[in-house]
Amino acid sequence: MKKMFVGFSIFIAAIFYVFLAKAAIAADDENCLMCHKYIKMGRITEEGERKYYYVDEEIFSKTVHNRVKCRDCHSYIEKLPHDPVKEGVQCNSKCHSIQNPATRKDFDHNNIYDVYMKSVHGREKVAAKEVDKDKPYCIFCHTNPLYIPHEIPNADGTVRSAEVPAAIADRCDVCHQKREFVEHRYLHTARRILSVKRSPQEVVELCLTCHGNEEFLERHEKLHEGEGKHLGKKFTFAGEAYQESFHGKVTKYGFKEAANCLSCHAKSENYYLAVHDIRSSKDPESTTHKNNRVNTCGKCHTDANKNFARIDPHPTERKDDNPFIYYIANVYGPFGDMVTYALLGLTILETIGRKRDGIAWVLRRGSTWRKKSKRGRDRR
Ligand code: HEC
Ligand code: HEC
Ligand code: HEC
Ligand code: HEC
Ligand code: HEC
Ligand code: HEC
Ligand code: HEC
Repeated sequence: MKKMFVGFSIFIAAIFYVFLAKAAIAADDENCLMCHKYIKMGRITEEGERKYYYVDEEIFSKTVHNRVKCRDCHSYIEKLPHDPVKEGVQCNSKCHSIQNPATRKDFDHNNIYDVYMKSVHGREKVAAKEVDKDKPYCIFCHTNPLYIPHEIPNADGTVRSAEVPAAIADRCDVCHQKREFVEHRYLHTARRILSVKRSPQEVVELCLTCHGNEEFLERHEKLHEGEGKHLGKKFTFAGEAYQESFHGKVTKYGFKEAANCLSCHAKSENYYLAVHDIRSSKDPESTTHKNNRVNTCGKCHTDANKNFARIDPHPTERKDDNPFIYYIANVYGPFGDMVTYALLGLTILETIGRKRDGIAWVLRRGSTWRKKSKRGRDRR
């Protein structure tokens, strides 16, 4: 009976859902959600990975891509019902449903894509071959972000709702006379005015997902050398070494002014473009190339000169990296230990000697050795 009731409730709920669900989001003219609205939709791949094919309309409608048609991104789908999907989404494809209002041309991300392709991480496609597979494609660093995360912090520590403030929307509405236009444009602009930049700690964490994994990096270096190319001297351990550096340590404890990976590896002219333009230190265009380092450090250390810029931002004690420090650490270290052990040995021998001389070890009147030697070997 109870089971039947539950079943019936679900049935009623389903009917309500079908009738009440609004005529879907603008982006879904192609009716993809007819199938993709089902929560359970998904499968387990041959590699045992769980894939979800469910698209939450409510959430999608609050993301920055909410007006982009599904097939502008999933352009490989040419008919419905569609064939099994074998490709991934390319972030450099043209967006036929949205124009760039400034140029009146179809929108695309090619401004960023072209810079990214020339950088060390440049990887033409989501579906990539061996060496390229290790590089971060756009979707490694970016999800489909919400316009505004649910709550916005006020300066006094309280939070306010991320809804479009009515007073502002009313003001725009008085001229534009279309609430939907006004709210959408407001959210679009507000997202870029509010700071949504990753914090220094988040940047370090992002880069270290790969540059903190030595095994991954060594494997990549081998693949790379197989193709006759060479990576930077510090490629496999720069990330780990940064954490030992002054900048790394203070950043870890929440200090925001010290250098994080992007402060040195990205040019500063337009931060949002430059973060995609990371280059090897061998590249003369790179901020970390030896000719550009004074400028790079000089962004913050205003009195930086050639000598200062020579300080290693990725310091290590490895022989292949810094033989000088390696030998200091490995010669002075054992030498220091030897001296300590020798002193300890001497003390023990001295103690045994004095004992044999018959001098007792007692604490009295500020001295530890007492009594006269039976063998006439007093050492005062
Ligand atoms: C008739 C139902 C139906 C419609 C309509 C539909 N799909 Fe699908 N879609 C499916 C099914 C079923 C799968 C799972 C196929 C599989 O496992 O190979 C799927 C899988 C996918 C995948 C994931 C493939 C993967 O392996 O990563 C994408 C992306 C996708 N669909 C996009 C779309 C887009 C975009 C539209 C609209 C243009 C759309 N679908 C319309 C049924 C549908
Ligand atoms: C801005 C581009 C963009 C838009 C718009 C977009 N998608 Fe996607 N979608 C992606 C990306 C990127 C992925 C990640 C997998 C990939 O690289 O193909 C993805 C993955 C998927 C998947 C498969 C999930 C998986 O794990 O493989 C489905 C299903 C899907 N999208 C359906 C839709 C539907 C339905 C719409 C429209 C309501 C839509 N997408 C709109 C970019 C987009
Ligand atoms: C290694 C990580 C990484 C990769 C790969 C990457 N980005 Fe970015 N992207 C960033 C960072 C960091 C920012 C600066 C904003 C922030 O801190 O989140 C950014 C900013 C952006 C912005 C500005 C966002 C805004 O709302 O202001 C866009 C657009 C963008 N990236 C698109 C792309 C595209 C397209 C690709 C692929 C061609 C790509 N990114 C590849 C890390 C990355
Ligand atoms: C006094 C009337 C007025 C008010 C108030 C007003 N606008 Fe406008 N807006 C205009 C006019 C007129 C244009 C077109 C002329 C131009 O480009 O200078 C325009 C253009 C725009 C455009 C560019 C549209 C395009 O495709 O080129 C956007 C976006 C916009 N307004 C958003 C807003 C928002 C958001 C608000 C409220 C914060 C607002 N406007 C308030 C009159 C107004
Ligand atoms: C998904 C993994 C991944 C992430 C995330 C990543 N990288 Fe890389 N990075 C690589 C790979 C792989 C290479 C080697 C590229 C090649 O084969 O040419 C590389 C190369 C580099 C190089 C040049 C190395 C050389 O020796 O030429 C620098 C510098 C670099 N990355 C910095 C960064 C910074 C800074 C971040 C964070 C914003 C970052 N990377 C995020 C995987 C990653
Ligand atoms: C204070 C500036 C600074 C900071 C912060 C910094 N780097 Fe570097 N990085 C450099 C310089 C300069 C070099 C070149 C060193 C050399 O060749 O001796 C370099 C070299 C590298 C290399 C070796 C490849 C090459 O181009 O020679 C990688 C990989 C790298 N850094 C990644 C990172 C990552 C990841 C972070 C953050 C966890 C980071 N760096 C933080 C300045 C910095
Ligand atoms: C984003 C800003 C920024 C950049 C870029 C930067 N630093 Fe720093 N660095 C700091 C801050 C902040 C401190 C800590 C306080 C101080 O000394 O002013 C610091 C401290 C240091 C220290 C230890 C304390 C000291 O002043 O002696 C050294 C060494 C150092 N940086 C070297 C470098 C080198 C070399 C470069 C260029 C490869 C560089 N930094 C680039 C911000 C930066």
